[in-house]
Amino acid sequence: MIFGVVLAGGIGSRMGNVEKPKQFLTLGDKPILVHTLEKFVINSQFEKVIVLTPSQWINHTKNIIKKSLKNTERIVVIEGGSTRNETIMNSIRYIEKEYGLDDDTIIVTHDSVRPFLTHRIIEDNIAAAIEYGACDTVIPATDTIVESADNTIISNIPDRSKMYQGQTPQSFRAKKLKDLYETLTDAEKDILTDACKIFVIKGEKVKLVMGEVFNIKITYPYDLRVAETLIESDGK
Ligand code: CTP
Repeated sequence: MIFGVVLAGGIGSRMGNVEKPKQFLTLGDKPILVHTLEKFVINSQFEKVIVLTPSQWINHTKNIIKKSLKNTERIVVIEGGSTRNETIMNSIRYIEKEYGLDDDTIIVTHDSVRPFLTHRIIEDNIAAAIEYGACDTVIPATDTIVESADNTIISNIPDRSKMYQGQTPQSFRAKKLKDLYETLTDAEKDILTDACKIFVIKGEKVKLVMGEVFNIKITYPYDLRVAETLIESDGK
């Protein structure tokens, strides 16, 4: 079985002093989260699309879904976790409880605040997760990446042709991700904010899936202005 996992458990602190977490802010004519969910519900491969939000936002989320989306039968809203990875783990616990977990259970995890993902990216994620067990959506780095170990002086300038910028979705065999996560110490869990990195540090393969330059994450107020421009230029 294949599940969509839409991560909306954050509070959006970098967005500044806004009245609600950024995934609920309006983009064009509807909340950012609704744009994202529209991309998931049109894909018939998903058994369920699981949306994870802070507990106090669950009812609000259910209300906007009811109000703004047509095909809502496959959407479930549950509580997220204290970190992004804990939010993903909550989705796996839910799947395990409701459906059982086997080696063929695939999750396509996606930031709720990346509303411009495409059907092609989702399809490529599903195919790569089935074949490799894990995949990450990326685009080739356009700027040269400069590394500084002490945040003051350059320690390395890696070859740009081998550098990519990470996006989402990140997709996994859910049981494998859970098994690897459970081997981490609490200290490791604190620093491993990226679920793909859990596979990488354990020596497991993660396939690259090509993203899109426009598959941006809304992090700062500036990103919301860029997103508004993208929506307008798309004629939506
Ligand atoms: N996320 C989540 N559960 C958490 C933390 C983050 O599901 N405990 C989600 C966010 O809702 C977001 C995505 O992960 O859709 C990407 O994270 P980020 O952009 O960092 O979101 P926030 O944590 O909300 O933002 P900030 O770091 O500015 O507080």
